[in-house]
Amino acid sequence: MKTMTAFRSAIEAAPIVPVLTVYEADHAEPLAEALMKGGITSAEITLRTPAALEVIRRMSDAFKDFLVGAGTIISEGDVDAALKAGSDFLVTPGTSPLLLEALGSHDGIILPGVATASEAMARFDEGFGVMKFFPAEAAGGAKFLKSLAGPLPHMDFMPTGGVTPQNAVDYLSLPNVIAVGGSWIATKEEMANGDWAAITEKAKEAVKIGRSV
Ligand code: 3PG
Repeated sequence: MKTMTAFRSAIEAAPIVPVLTVYEADHAEPLAEALMKGGITSAEITLRTPAALEVIRRMSDAFKDFLVGAGTIISEGDVDAALKAGSDFLVTPGTSPLLLEALGSHDGIILPGVATASEAMARFDEGFGVMKFFPAEAAGGAKFLKSLAGPLPHMDFMPTGGVTPQNAVDYLSLPNVIAVGGSWIATKEEMANGDWAAITEKAKEAVKIGRSV
């Protein structure tokens, strides 16, 4: 696992983290390549398909400079499997007491999911300085994070859930947002059709949005 400093510097160059649900292990290399060609430096692979762990393994093996995270971490088993597969970072949609216990025994890059001020304060006290704000749009969007920056300026967030090329700037221009996550960059259809060029184009657009802020 890499350090949070490595994570922060990788996403500084491209503060858009594609959230990828990948159905075919063979898509791992062309997908990562397509994203890197567009300037993207990281991706979150959701543990929602049987292929996900193999995709993480293959992406991390093939591209050492590409940060490969595991998303949809909801149990101790997920934590262990994701780390064993070589994940550089872990992202959770929220936390349960059992999951927190499992996360607590690792010191890698972990972004626990939060949706309220109280959850963010609790996670910060437990040692998590960067959190996933999820589900971002449904839980209050950029307005919510802007409001948190006043009383809680020491916390950073990666909003995901409903982030689009249209609203990404609203989030990225906030002082407490280090990156946004989104699934729009690579759709199920594009991956199924092997339309890697379309993914590269959207990656380029996303990086441009990140740089415009
Ligand atoms: C997720 O875990 O599904 C992410 O938050 C992605 O959400 P999106 O599909 O709205 O980008």
